[in-house]
Amino acid sequence: MTILETRQECEQCGNSIGELDPSPVCPRCGGLLELVHESLETLRADELRTLFASRRGAMRAPDASGVWRYRELVLPSATPDAIVSHPEGNTPLIARATVCQWAALDGLLMKHEGHNPTGSFKDRGMTVAMTQAKRSYARAVACASTGNTSASLAAYASQAGLPALVFVPAGQVALGKLTQTLAYGARTLLVRGNFDACFALAREASVALNIQLLNSINPFRLEGQKTIVFELLEQLGWDAPDWITLPAGNLGNTSAFGRALRDAKALGLIERVPRIAAVQASGAAPFAQAFAEQFATRRHVEPQTIATAIRIGAPASWDRAVRAIHETNGVVTSVTDDEILDAKAIIDAAGVGCEPASAASVAGAALLRRDGVIGASERVVAVLTGHLLKDPGVLVRYHQETEPPPAHANRPIEIEPNVEEVERVLGERAG
Ligand code: F0G
Repeated sequence: MTILETRQECEQCGNSIGELDPSPVCPRCGGLLELVHESLETLRADELRTLFASRRGAMRAPDASGVWRYRELVLPSATPDAIVSHPEGNTPLIARATVCQWAALDGLLMKHEGHNPTGSFKDRGMTVAMTQAKRSYARAVACASTGNTSASLAAYASQAGLPALVFVPAGQVALGKLTQTLAYGARTLLVRGNFDACFALAREASVALNIQLLNSINPFRLEGQKTIVFELLEQLGWDAPDWITLPAGNLGNTSAFGRALRDAKALGLIERVPRIAAVQASGAAPFAQAFAEQFATRRHVEPQTIATAIRIGAPASWDRAVRAIHETNGVVTSVTDDEILDAKAIIDAAGVGCEPASAASVAGAALLRRDGVIGASERVVAVLTGHLLKDPGVLVRYHQETEPPPAHANRPIEIEPNVEEVERVLGERAG
């Protein structure tokens, strides 16, 4: 198969720079960069499908990675020795009757990205961005984060042997994520401000201090995140679902999904393009508000939600996410914190589990079904972006502390160490 050349191209002004140029944005106009793999269309769909499938049984990275298995569409020039891979990806597509019933969608599947090595989808983008940071001789790497990107960056930087610096909003990062970041060894800065302030600071500091910024404006991250879509399509035998729903915060993933579907359609890997439904938390929903006004203006809000992963008021990848929604005839909606917690309780009790932000994709699917936007028989894949254990604080409050107990609270019961007590508790349950 032909090895493709890759360049970075500015989405605003069309300026091209080399694949190994470490500029975080277009050096000419400051626009966001995207990767262009030359002559992508020369690849044949049937050959690609066979090649991807042949790597599925591999035991070792890079072929064993659910990102690098698709490397012709991700970063074709990366040689196996240059790749920093855990490995990652190969996440399950899960069906659970109770979740389908709750959402009133028989054909609902969940793509569980919490099964990645650091427990979120961020590992898919990070393996590519860290590979690139190493290939371009970065002296250090940095990101602003609501917690998952920082955990992922910390782990991959340590594997790559690169110093890591992360900026997170003080007091607003879920415990699992913060402790991961510390454990993997990143220098962790608790910034007195929200994610948007962290992001502005990380951008400024990375330029001033010549550190590579690996937030999702980094185009290499998006190439890796495309593989969530490739993998779910492959798991469905390349028979595309009607909808893909996902939680939306900084809009990197929405943009990556748009690109993946554009690539898959252009290559003939799929015949029709699923519709993207991006779901925000209603207290942090600038993109959903703008969608309701046909994206007439770029909105900013003061973000507030229990789903701290998507507590973002000024999303960075705005324009490319708008393009993803337009190209897929997609929709953007928002769900309340109560709807998120309800959906999460159902997903958790199905033995699947996810962090609060992830449950927005199922809550959003249920809402769109109730509103008649999604038909009862349509096939929906809801992407669960992070693992249940990322946010133990929300679980403790929901199950043990909130008064009166929420609908699905499962209170623990303290007992004396004797069988009568156990019997009494079982009796209560049965009754
Ligand atoms: N779900 C989870 C679990 C996340 O951590 C994020 C983003 C999203 C969804 C939204 O994705 O930002 O691409 O629209 N987390 C980032 C972080 C912001 O720093 O970990 P997005």
